[in-house]
Formats: sequence, C-alpha cells, structure tokens
Amino acid sequence: MTQSIKPILRALSGETLQTPPIWMMRQAGRYLPEYMATRAEAGDFLSLCYNSDLATEVTLQPIRRYAFDAAIVFADILLVPQALGAKLWFVTGEGPRLSTITSMDDLGKLGSVDDIHETLAPIYQTIRNLSEALPKETALIGFAGSPWTVATYMIAGRGTPDQGPAHMLMRENTPVFDALIERITDATILYLSEQIKAGAEIVKLFDSWAGSLNGEAFDRYSIAPHVKIVTALKAQFPDVKIIGFPRGASEKYIDFVDQVAVDCIAVDNGTNSVWAAENLQPKMCVQGNLDPSLLVTGGEKLIAETKRVVDTFKNGPHIFNLGHGITPDASPENVSRMIEAIRG
Ligand code: CP3
Repeated sequence: MTQSIKPILRALSGETLQTPPIWMMRQAGRYLPEYMATRAEAGDFLSLCYNSDLATEVTLQPIRRYAFDAAIVFADILLVPQALGAKLWFVTGEGPRLSTITSMDDLGKLGSVDDIHETLAPIYQTIRNLSEALPKETALIGFAGSPWTVATYMIAGRGTPDQGPAHMLMRENTPVFDALIERITDATILYLSEQIKAGAEIVKLFDSWAGSLNGEAFDRYSIAPHVKIVTALKAQFPDVKIIGFPRGASEKYIDFVDQVAVDCIAVDNGTNSVWAAENLQPKMCVQGNLDPSLLVTGGEKLIAETKRVVDTFKNGPHIFNLGHGITPDASPENVSRMIEAIRG
C-alpha cells in the first residue's frame, strides 16, 4: 500500500526514507537551454507564466531531464499583486517592477480579492494540465508568496536589499500596512485553494524576506499570516501538505515550526543543518539545504556537501533541496552529479 504513495508525500507525512526525495527551488529556469528556448517562444517571462501550454512544458522540462520527485507549477509570487490590480513588468537584467502602494488611496484602487481568479485562471489550467501529464510517482507543488514578502515588492515597487520601504510603511502608517497584509493574506487563501482544487497536492509559501523581520514584527507579519493561511487551507483540504519557508529566520525558525501547522519546514543555506536536524526535524519534515552556489562551482566540494546534507538529515523525514533557488549560471551537469550523489 505505502508503495503506491509518492515518495515526497511519504516524507511529508513524517516517514524517514532511505533515499530522500528531491526537487529544487527554481528548477524550471534559465540554467536550462530548453527553458530559454520555450521562453523565447512565449516572448517574455510573464507571457510564459500566463500561457498554460508553454508553462506546462517548462514545468515538465526538469522532470524529464532529472526525474525529480516533485514538479512545481511554473508561475511567480508577483502574479497575486497583478491579479489584485497592481501593474507588474520585468526589466531585463534587473528584475520586477510594480506600481507602488503607500497610502489608503493606493490600496483603494486595488480590486477585490474575489476577482483575482480572472487573471489567475491560466495558472489553474497549467495545474490541471500537469495533473494529467506528470508521471504517477511525481507530486505536484503549487505555491504563493507569503504576505510579508509580497508586500515588500508591492510597497517598494521592486526588489530591495533591506526591505526598507516596507519597514518604513509598517512603522509610519501601520493601518495601511496592516490592511495590505490582510488583503494579500485573503487573496493567497483563495489562490492556493483554487490551486489545490485544480490538482496541487502540496503547496509552498515563500517568505523569502522573513529574515528582515525582528522580534514582534516576525510574530505579527510572518507567523500570524501563515497561521491564518494554513488554518484556512487545512480546514478546507485536510489532506493537502504545506511547506513553509521563512528564509533567513535563523533561531526564529523554532517559533515558526511551533506555531504554524505546516507539514515541512524549508531551511535556507545560511542555517546550520546540524542545528536544524536537532531543533526542527524532531517536529516535522525538513527540506533543504544545499548552497545553490555549489551548482555553479561543482567539483568534489559539491559531492561532499551533498552527501553531508543527506547524512545530517538521515535520521528523520527529509526532502533534499537547495537552501534557495538555483541560479542562471548553474551547470545542468552539476545538477546531474548532485542527484547521482544522492541516489547512487
Ligand atoms: O521554482 C520554480 O521553478 C517555479 C517557478 C518560480 C519562479 N519564481 C519563476 C521565476 C517560483 C517558485 C518563484 C518564486 C519567487 N519569485 C520568489 C520566492 C523565492 C525566492 O527566490 O526567494 C520571489 C521573491 C519571486 C519574485 C521574482 N521573480 C524576482 C525577484 C524575479 C527576478 C529575479 C530573477 O531571479 O530573475 C523573478 C523572475 C523569475 N521568476 C524567473 C523565474 C524562472 C526568471 C525570469 C526569466 O526567465 O527571466
């Protein structure tokens, strides 16, 4: 019976497997020549996200090449702001740009959370396509950005090194900041619910900038919105598995796993894996945490570190992954070597 359950779902249910299941953050991306070809066919990144056939294709590319244990639907965390009515575009070589939210007036111009599905419908279609197309042992992951991380982009209108504009709004206009967090939280619940109905078996919340929230702000703007989202999803879909990723939270990772009822905690590469095995893994499945730069440099160090991560987490439920996304300069051959070191 257990044989028929996908390996990654077994790990997410708390089973310790002999060989950890594997996937990689940003596994569909610019390090793959086949991705670059499909993106060129789509025209640009956002057109690719909203073209269900081509998004299905790029999601499947790393599965064909590497037989990962999970596929993650090709989309972006910034599609939710766009669905809420923010303007979104990508500047080549620089990153995302959005219209900014800094006042109640700006917030008032956004649409209602109930209207997001019109924009996001192609993502649900990509998920339905993937449910049909994936090998039977491969699980399907849906995702969204966590409210704080999404808010940092909506407030600044771009990525920022220290999330300064978001911290400033939090301090100087708390009612607007709180209302924005609530709007994103509610939209995220609706978005992930539709992804699950379309066939996502696992959903991941990316709080990529959680590390810049300190003390009470971490509780209020990372933990509390996660609790609201996870509680709502589990009430509606008791079987769905949820992965949390409060990147950079350091010792606050403990507060996160104690308070948010996720099934798995994704550990960034700044976190000591021995510490994570001792302090987090007894409570739930751990995902992580190879340094993605090793896939650029390769060599003996890549093999040694890969084996060290596997060894450190071998006594509990573990999903092998990177500590952050794979970068465009990574080598596809190094990914094969990493997998060979894990699967033998
Ligand atoms: O993991 C996957 O393969 C699924 C797709 C996925 C993308 N973005 C595609 C993408 C996922 C899960 C994301 C998450 C995401 N997007 C995060 C959270 C994870 C993290 O990396 O911290 C964030 C912060 C974003 C926002 C975003 N999207 C930025 C800042 C950028 C520009 C920087 C960059 O890496 O290019 C993007 C663009 C983006 N999202 C690309 C891809 C494949 C590159 C677009 C291209 O093809 O040029």
